[in-house]
Amino acid sequence: MTIWHPFTQHALFPTMRPIASAQGAWLTDAGGRRIFDAISSWWVVTHGHCHPRIVQAIRDQAGRLDQVIFAGYTHEPAETFARGLLARVPQNLTRVFFSDSGSTAVEVALKMALGHFRHQGSPRRRIVVMQDGYHGDTVGTMSAGERGAFTQPYDPLLFAVDRIPFPTEQARQATLDALEHFCRQPETAALLIEPLVLGAGGMRIYPQDVLTEMAAICARHGVLLIADEVMTGWGRTGRFLACDHVGVAPDILCLSKGITGGHLPLAVTLCREDIYQSHLSTDRRRTFFHSSSYTANPIACAAACANLAIWDDEPVQDRIDAVTAAQAQGALRLARHPGLSGVRQIGTILAAEVGQGNDYMADTGPALMRFFAERDLLIRPLGRTVYLLPPYCATAAELSACHDAILEAADVFG
Ligand SMILES: Cc1ncc(COP(=O)(O)O)c(C=O)c1O
Repeated sequence: MTIWHPFTQHALFPTMRPIASAQGAWLTDAGGRRIFDAISSWWVVTHGHCHPRIVQAIRDQAGRLDQVIFAGYTHEPAETFARGLLARVPQNLTRVFFSDSGSTAVEVALKMALGHFRHQGSPRRRIVVMQDGYHGDTVGTMSAGERGAFTQPYDPLLFAVDRIPFPTEQARQATLDALEHFCRQPETAALLIEPLVLGAGGMRIYPQDVLTEMAAICARHGVLLIADEVMTGWGRTGRFLACDHVGVAPDILCLSKGITGGHLPLAVTLCREDIYQSHLSTDRRRTFFHSSSYTANPIACAAACANLAIWDDEPVQDRIDAVTAAQAQGALRLARHPGLSGVRQIGTILAAEVGQGNDYMADTGPALMRFFAERDLLIRPLGRTVYLLPPYCATAAELSACHDAILEAADVFG
C-alpha cells in the first residue's frame, strides 16, 4: 500500500474498501456490494451521488474551459454562481471570495477579519471561538478548533484564541456572559462559530435563541460574526443556512461541502461590503493576499451553478422536509432505547450516544464503525456518538433501516 489515508490509523485499519461507483444515496464497492451512504461521504453529498444535471454540467464545462488563473481573469461559471448565491444569502453579504475547501474558507474568513481591522488602524486582532468547535485541519483552523489529541503534536504552531463555553441549556448564560466579556476587550476582532450545530465536535445542538443573542452581542460591540456553515449550509439543518432559522445575518459566511452538491471541491467566503472596501485602495499593500492555484476552478463552478439550478427548480425543500420527518420518527424510536442517550435531531441530522457520555478516543468508536460496515452502512461515529447525515434523496425506508441498525448497535454496545 502506498497511500496514507486521512483520519485513518493504518495500524488498526490496514485495508481500505475500494469503491467503484455511486448513485443517489448508494455506493457500490469493487466486489459489487452496495453500501448506504448515511453520512453523505463526509457531509458533502446533498441531492445524491452523480446527480445527472451536475454530472452533465461538469462534462460540458470540462470540454469548454478547464482551468484559468483567477487573478486578473474571470469566467462565466464563477460569475453566474456568485450572483446566484448572493440572491440566496442575507443581503448584507455582497462579496464572494473563492477557495477550495472548508478549511480554506475559514482561513480566508480569519484573514478577511484581521485585514479589515488592520487596514482601519484598529487594534482588533483576537478571535473568539466556541468550546468543542471544529473548523478544519490547517494550522489556522486547528488553532480556532478544540484542542486535544488531534492537535497536540502541532501545539507549538497554533495561535491563541479566546473560548466561550458550549451553550447547553444550563450554560447558556455563562456562554453569553463570556462572549460579552471578550467582546468588551479592545483587541477582539471576531467570533467564529458553527451556527446551531457543532459537527465534528459531536453533532451537539444548541438553542436557536443563543445564536440570536450571540449575534446581537457581537453587533453591539462591533465584533464581526463569522458563521462557519461548511457543515450546516445547503439545507442540512432543514433550512438553506442554519442562520436562516433565526434570521441572523453573519458578517462573514463560510460555505463548502454541499456547494457542488458534493461532486467537486470548492468553497466560498462571503463578506459585508465594508470588509471588502477596507481592502480597496491604490496602496497595493492593502491587497487581500490570498489565493490557491485552483481558485474558482471553472469545472467546480459549473457544478456549483448546476447545484444552484437544482435548488431553484427541483423540490429540494420537500425532499429535505421528508428526510427531516423520517429522522424525527427515528429520534422517537431511538429515545426509547435504554442503551442510547442524548438523542437529538435538527433537520436532516440525527445523533445519539451509544451508552453514556462521549470520548472520541474510546475503542467503541472503531468497533461501532466496523459493526455498521458489516451491515453495508457507511456510518462513521464520532467516538460513542452515532449520527446520520444522509443525502436528501434517502427514502424513509432506507433511513428506517439505519435506525434499526443503530438500535441493534445499542443492544450490543449500549
Ligand atoms: C464546520 C466545519 N468547518 C470546516 C470544515 C473543514 O472543511 P474541509 O474538510 O473541507 O477542509 C469542516 C469539515 O468537516 C466543518 O465541519
